[in-house]
Amino acid sequence: MSSASLANPNLLPHSARVSIVGAGNVGSTLAQRIVEKNLADVVLLDVIAGRPQGIALDLQEAQAIERHDRHVLGTNDYADTAGSDVVVITAGIPRKPGMSRDDLMKTNARIVIEAAGQSIAYSPDAILIIVTNPLDVMTYLAWQATQLPPQRMMGMAGILDSARFQAFIAMELGVSIMEVTALVLGGHGDLMVPLPRYSTVNGVPVTELLSAETIDRLVDRTRNGGAEVVELIKTGGAYFAPASAACLMVEAILFDQSRLLPIATYLQGEYGLNDIFIGVPARLGCRGIESILELSLTETEQAALRVSADSVRKNIDSITTMLGDTPGSPT
Ligand code: LAC
Repeated sequence: MSSASLANPNLLPHSARVSIVGAGNVGSTLAQRIVEKNLADVVLLDVIAGRPQGIALDLQEAQAIERHDRHVLGTNDYADTAGSDVVVITAGIPRKPGMSRDDLMKTNARIVIEAAGQSIAYSPDAILIIVTNPLDVMTYLAWQATQLPPQRMMGMAGILDSARFQAFIAMELGVSIMEVTALVLGGHGDLMVPLPRYSTVNGVPVTELLSAETIDRLVDRTRNGGAEVVELIKTGGAYFAPASAACLMVEAILFDQSRLLPIATYLQGEYGLNDIFIGVPARLGCRGIESILELSLTETEQAALRVSADSVRKNIDSITTMLGDTPGSPT
């Protein structure tokens, strides 16, 4: 099924197919979310023999209780992902305590380039969502390797980072999370750019509700949100919130929702940035990124975004050098 046919909502929900590459905690939880929300059939792929098959079987055995008839196929063979509308790449090694996302770069670059290339070979019309860290860099490499139109390549992180900021604002104020919106731009790293001016409790900017010191504390906690979970779990990173964030993107695409979400998107001059994937507000629908919203930022916010982009750029340059001139075919 081509992504174009998704524009017809009558075709849904029975024909949509989402492949997830990487059956770790994020990939498995995402598979669960997608089928239990009745969004699509899922193909769960991993290089480890038996693991995706076992998880798929476990999810199928929960169906009678969860009351859905979505199919989950576990596989080690990319041929089984053929005809996917959306492919989500979560494969890669996770962070260990004390490791930064960038430490993961070398290993994960090879994994993601291979996964993206194989996925697009079997699903040439698919929209790709990269979740593997450091994800702004990984999204760029996957885009280079596949040569997809940039509208069909994107990275998940802004929704996760914004959700964490929302959670911390709600906890601090003791208000329902339902009333809280928040916006975090930039790379998914320590230099991400939470925007308190654009974060509200039912429309009231948090700058009216919290002191500057408190906001700074919540911003710091947001920037370290992933690491805080790693430090606690010790054997791995967060996966419930990352899976929820990726699932939201899948839903926006499959149901052509044209949602305005912070997404690692290819920039060509927007925000003064060029030839880079980084988190900005973008509209997401069945054809992928429909448009990018250029917010008016203060000088401080713009400078913070530039610092974050510089760090992503530096990592792209160093990984590109490391992989040689042909990142599409690493040796
Ligand atoms: C995190 C990982 C997924 O932020 O980057 O939890």
